[in-house]
Order: sequence, then structure tokens, then C-alpha cells
Amino acid sequence: MDKYPSDWTRLALRRGSSNTAAARVRSVAKPAIGGGGEAPPAVIAPASRADYQAIKGQLQERLLAEMGDRNLLGSADDVVASAVQEFADRILEDEDLPLNESERGRLAEDLAEETLGIGPLAPLLADPAVTDILVNGPDQVYVERFGRIEKTSIRFRDPEHIVRVIERIAARVGRRIDVSSPMADLRLADGSRVNATLPPVTLDGPTISIRRFGRRRLRRSQLIEFGMMSAEMAQFMEIAVQSRLNVLISGGTGAGKSTLLGALAEVIPAHERVVTIEDTAELVLDQEHVVRMETRPPNLEGRGRITARDLVINCLRMRPDRIIVGEVRGGEALDMLQAMNTGHDGGLTTIHANSPRDALSRLETMVLMAGLDLPSRAIREQMSAAIHLIVHVRRCEDGVRRVETIAEVTGMEGSTPLLQDLFQYRKRGRQNRRLIGDFSATGIVPRVVNELRETGTDVPLSIFQRRTAPEMGTQT
Ligand SMILES: Nc1ncnc2c1ncn2[C@@H]1O[C@H](COP(=O)(O)OP(=O)(O)OP(=O)(O)O)[C@@H](O)[C@H]1O
Ligand SMILES: [Mg+2]
Repeated sequence: MDKYPSDWTRLALRRGSSNTAAARVRSVAKPAIGGGGEAPPAVIAPASRADYQAIKGQLQERLLAEMGDRNLLGSADDVVASAVQEFADRILEDEDLPLNESERGRLAEDLAEETLGIGPLAPLLADPAVTDILVNGPDQVYVERFGRIEKTSIRFRDPEHIVRVIERIAARVGRRIDVSSPMADLRLADGSRVNATLPPVTLDGPTISIRRFGRRRLRRSQLIEFGMMSAEMAQFMEIAVQSRLNVLISGGTGAGKSTLLGALAEVIPAHERVVTIEDTAELVLDQEHVVRMETRPPNLEGRGRITARDLVINCLRMRPDRIIVGEVRGGEALDMLQAMNTGHDGGLTTIHANSPRDALSRLETMVLMAGLDLPSRAIREQMSAAIHLIVHVRRCEDGVRRVETIAEVTGMEGSTPLLQDLFQYRKRGRQNRRLIGDFSATGIVPRVVNELRETGTDVPLSIFQRRTAPEMGTQT
């Protein structure tokens, strides 16, 4: 324990006092726009911009491979920068790349920013199988691949090196991190979500936790293939989303809630105006008509905080057809439920909970966080009127993420919301490391089917027939 306590306090204090002005400048200089370190889009036409990104991506991988071979990835920034410059000069000279003058001019700079921005983590980000990257200290860097956590041989030079990487990531999205706000939710240029902490909140030094997105966006078909759910379950959830039912996805940390939400959002019709609200924008939707909103922490003076609740209230004035709240955590639960109950249906959100029933009780607590002294019965009535389905996902012991239950909220009995299970996952045993089990319908036809039929949506009753669908595939 306490590996760097005295140094750390000093470093943190130094940063806190001397970097204040710089941090403020940074936070206005780089507004949080999705593409991170990209150049102003006005200069390049959309088509060629996509080409440029693709070429840059390929060159980035070659560069990393080359630097890895030369053992340069952990070197000082100036050494890395000159290696990048030399690489860019050589490539531009020797290879006939379809880039225009301005693209050629900024290639080296963009590659350098990409490479230096994430420092020693670059090779991990280049590996598509890596889903999480966890930095606990200079010589403790872990990754999750195929549902398993492994230690890597990646090293930072010292804790200060980790802090530099954190600051670069923060600067790119216009956020700051220092002793006065030692925790930050950030995002990489590819959309991956980053959480960073500094001492004193993490005793042994700075940490970085990255949840990869960009590269590996899992689609519905892949989730079925990986054994997350049966085809019938997927079909039912698709019908639910298309016909604008309100769906709450519950589960523990890293259970696959956001992934499932993203996959279900695929079926939202293209003509709908979608507004997404997240703490760190991680959802990537196919639809074109999407407005992405992101909360903001307070600034250095402690002002300017924008909560998910502010965004939900604001988005109601933006003529949304669909409101997607990435994860409900607090008082926004109230406004979301009210919106769902006043015609803004088709809501999709996730909640951290251990079961569908637990999801409802947590939601109730979150509504109370809005600060209105609402009686518990009124809240429960709102919840059971608003929410149609709760989909519970779990990261099982074998590392596979599965939809464990799909439950329908059918009303209230006394002061308790009623839930009925429509689909379940049942374990039967295990084969080697992997669980063996099956997904099955419980045989109950959801109440909402009648409502859907009235509005002209045909729901094939066969999907609710009680038969077991063996799991497919293995998780990759
Ligand atoms: N069915 C699946 N098969 C394989 N990998 C998956 C599956 N679902 C999710 N993942 C991966 O698991 C990781 C966690 O997923 P996700 O971010 O969706 O979880 P979450 O429940 O939203 O987590 P958090 O509570 O941190 O928000 C991601 O890297 C994602 O790519
Ligand atoms: Mg999530």
C-alpha cells in the first residue's frame, strides 16, 4: 500500500495549483465534439474525409507495429514524436497515397497526436479483441479479452507518465482532471469510454479504466451468435422497440447493458428523431437523425454543471420522437418516467440492478433523488404505467453475457408493481469452463400483445411458446 503517498500529494498539489489556468484554457479551446482530435471538417469533403480517416487508421497500425518492433512505444514523447515524423515523411515520399495537400500536411501531426495521446496503451487499442483496458499502476496494465482479464506486459515509465496520458485524453474532450476534481469520465476519439482517477482518491496512484467501443460494435445478430439471447427473445425485443414500448435494461457493471441497448436501437425506424442523453457519449447509432447530448461536470469555480436531469428536461423541447437515456442514475428518472407517461413513448434506458424487481426499487430511489417529496405509491404507479419491459442481463461466471430474464410490468397489486417473466435463461450444468443452459419462453403471452395488435402490429404468438432454444456459438 501507499506506494507513492508523499510524492503523490506533492505532484497532485503542484498540478492543482499551477495547471489551473492552462486547464481552463484547454477546456474552452477544445469543445467536446465526437471526433476528438480530428481537423475542422469544413476543409475536406465528407467522402474524402472518410478516406483520410481510413488511411490514417491503417497507417497508425503500421506505425505502431514498426514502433513496437523498434521498442519505441514506451519512449519519451519527443523520441516518439520524431519517430512519427520520420515515418510520415517516409510514407509520403515512398508511397502513392490518395491524399490532398492539406491532408498530407497534417498527417504527421495527426499520427503523433494519436500515438502520443494514449502513449503505451496504443498497441492495446489496436487489438480488436480487447474490450477493456485497466491501468492500476505503471506496471499493472490489464486487459479483458474474450470475457477474461489478463495482465499485459505494457509498462508506463512512472505514475507521472500515466497522469500525462490522462491529461491528454481529458484535454481532447475539453475536460480537466486535477487534485480538486480527481475523477473524470472521458472519451477517446474512437468513442471508447474512459474513467480516470488521481490520488488521493486512488491511494496507490493514478488509474485509467477504458471500455472499448468504436471498433467492436456488437450487432443484434452477433449477440445471438455469442449466446447472449435466443432468436425469439431478440425478435420480441425488436418488436417491442419498433412498436415504441418503454424498455428498461437492467444488470450489473459490464453486464452488456449498453451493448444490448445499442443493438436494440438498430431497429428504430429511420424517420424518427432520436435524442440520446449520456454521461459519456458511447452510443453509436446507425440512424442519421440523432441528436447526442452529454452531461458536463462543474467547472473550476464549481459552476456550469449540467446533469442528465437538465438534459432530459431540455430534450423534451427538442421535439424528440425517441429519448434514449444511456443510464439512469439519479433524479432524471422522474422526468423520464413523466415523459414516458405523457406521450413520449419508445423510451430506452439502462439501470444498474441485480434483478428486474431490484431495478424497480432502484428506480424508485432515483425518483426520490429529484427532491420532490412524492409518496412511494405515486412513484410506483408512475413506474408501472410507464415501463413495459425490463430486460435483465448478466455477465455469468463463464464470462458470457446473457439476457437472464425478460419481464413484463403488468400493473400494480396493492402498492407493489407486478412483474411477469416472459423469457428466462436456465443453467443446466457446465462443460469445461462454459455454462450449459437454455433460453426459454415461460409460455406466458404478454399482456401488451393485445395492445400491439390493436395498433396493427402483428406479434407471432409462436415466439412465446414454451420450448427451449439451446444456446448458440461461443463468445468471441
Ligand atoms: N453479448 C456479448 N458478447 C460479448 N461481449 C459483450 C457482449 N455484450 C457486451 N459485451 C462487451 O462487454 C463489455 C461491457 O459491455 P457494456 O458496456 O454494454 O456493459 P454495461 O452493462 O453497459 O457496463 P457499465 O455498467 O459499465 O455501463 C463491452 O466491452 C462489450 O463489448
Ligand atoms: Mg453501460
